[in-house]
Amino acid sequence: MISRWTVVVDRDDLTKTEVLHDELSPELGDCEVLLRVDRVGLTANNVTYGVIGDLIGYWKFFPVSADGRGVIPLWGFADVVDSTLDALPPGTRVYGYLPMSSHLVVRARLTSSGFVDTADHRAPLPAVYNSYLVTSTDPAYDPQQEDLQVLYRPLFMTSFLLADQLADNDFYGARTVVISSASSKTAFGTAQCLRGSGVRLVGLTSSRNVGFTESLGLYDTVLPYDAAVDVEPSVYLDFSGSADLRSTLHDRLGASLVKDISIGLTQQKASADPRSQFFFAPDQLRKRAADWGQDGFGQRFGAAWRAFTAQAGEWVGIAQHSGPDELVEVWQSVLAGKTDPSTADVITF
Ligand SMILES: NC(=O)c1ccc[n+]([C@@H]2O[C@H](COP(=O)([O-])OP(=O)(O)OC[C@H]3O[C@@H](n4cnc5c(N)ncnc54)[C@H](OP(=O)(O)O)[C@@H]3O)[C@@H](O)[C@H]2O)c1
Repeated sequence: MISRWTVVVDRDDLTKTEVLHDELSPELGDCEVLLRVDRVGLTANNVTYGVIGDLIGYWKFFPVSADGRGVIPLWGFADVVDSTLDALPPGTRVYGYLPMSSHLVVRARLTSSGFVDTADHRAPLPAVYNSYLVTSTDPAYDPQQEDLQVLYRPLFMTSFLLADQLADNDFYGARTVVISSASSKTAFGTAQCLRGSGVRLVGLTSSRNVGFTESLGLYDTVLPYDAAVDVEPSVYLDFSGSADLRSTLHDRLGASLVKDISIGLTQQKASADPRSQFFFAPDQLRKRAADWGQDGFGQRFGAAWRAFTAQAGEWVGIAQHSGPDELVEVWQSVLAGKTDPSTADVITF
């Protein structure tokens, strides 16, 4: 038997966690592969998976038999330790969506870049989360940059597509882009993609994060949340999910606020508002795959990703952690918003 640990979280109170231990049978069924989770990142994005877990179905990826509790998904690397498929022998390293657990059994259907987990419970869930890349055939993989990949790769695709959607629509006629939670990685990735496109970038952030956000050198202006923005034609990109901030901006800018787009909710409150349009990355992805072809898309995204990762290591340091107890400590700290944006957390299992 294989000893497995799993961190479970109370779905109604994300501060309540427990490390469960159980024994996993080494018997694998048809097409099954046993993965040992190795290295993951943890940011506010993972907290959002918990906050809107019921709404979007994030609790369904890694079901656990623990009443009212669930497993938070993380992005990272895992190694095949046992396999029924010749194409995925032990030692194969893969990147994808992983549980807060030492092990994961997947039912793999091979693809050109790796495999898809076809486990019954995952079939109705969005395909993007069910695909795993084998690192040895992934052109974007760099073994020296695993930390940057686990932290930024799931976020930067959104940054890239969001910036592209704005440019594709000529910024809806605005020349200023106002961005909340400007210190977050997805927000500053978007700002980096928008640099040089002729728009003024205004970052809004908590008072304590103004210094860090300015230090990035990505925004033309950085303001604390309680400062007034200039009244001029603007697009608002909301990563905070703050209903109060949205109302303040609409009251102040009025008709000058030409577009209001919701991307995140770092403040952990889901609040739908008809004035705001939800950003759905797959729509822009589909459009650009049609415009540019898969290869053209891959080349453009690859160039943007390389430009971003060349700088990201200078902007944000990395704190290394290991094991389930430290994973729980990082979870509590990110959940409570105590983390310093100049440091990002990577956990080895
Ligand atoms: N729709 C999509 O496709 C998509 C994709 C990726 C990410 N996102 C969303 O974008 C948001 C940012 O994710 P990230 O992983 O980039 O974040 P991150 O880098 O971990 O962001 C940290 C920042 O979030 C704010 N924050 C964190 N915890 C908080 C708390 N408890 N209370 C209030 N503010 C808090 C603070 O920024 P400030 O002080 O600057 O507010 C903090 O510096 C998340 O909501 C995520 O789900 C959406």
